[in-house]
Amino acid sequence: MDRKENIKVVGREEIEKAGVDVDRLIDKLVKAVAAELTTYYYYTILRMHLTGIDGEGLKEIAEDARLEDRMHFELMTPRIYELGGSIPRDIRKFADMAACPDAYLPDDWSDPKSILKVLLEAEQCAIRVWTEVCHITAGGKDPRTYDLAQRILTEEVEHEAWFLELLYGRPSGHFRRRFPGEGPRSSK
Ligand SMILES: [Fe+2]
Ligand SMILES: [Fe+2]
Repeated sequence: MDRKENIKVVGREEIEKAGVDVDRLIDKLVKAVAAELTTYYYYTILRMHLTGIDGEGLKEIAEDARLEDRMHFELMTPRIYELGGSIPRDIRKFADMAACPDAYLPDDWSDPKSILKVLLEAEQCAIRVWTEVCHITAGGKDPRTYDLAQRILTEEVEHEAWFLELLYGRPSGHFRRRFPGEGPRSSK
């Protein structure tokens, strides 16, 4: 069945009229949400390896970042379908499309700082990705995608600041979330 036949999608038309290349935007969004879901997966492993006296205190912050990335995946994925796109049927293909590199556990993970560095790089990649989505959709061109992307971006900037503070003592203003993975901007 051709699901595209004669279906008028005003929500897409208006964005196209405003000058957005919607197919290109969908492609960016699929790669961006793939990075969120793969990061969620890798953070599970990374958090697991924050062990010992030095690692224990870092578990909660890694868990917040992990759960919020899953929330980012869940927040933006429906938008892809609203625009007429989809995520791949096969998760293997999806993982390969991710906009950010795999956040692998370091071979020598005994120093928690080595794990914090991986977490930091993943957050910095996410900031670049969501900033780009914001730029594509800003200026009233696609207010709905922009709203979702800037909410995600706000949390990614917070995540970067947390890990910078832990690694380098640069103050971030961080205090604990009210509950793990609260997602103050991305929770529905
Ligand atoms: Fe995220
Ligand atoms: Fe993040």
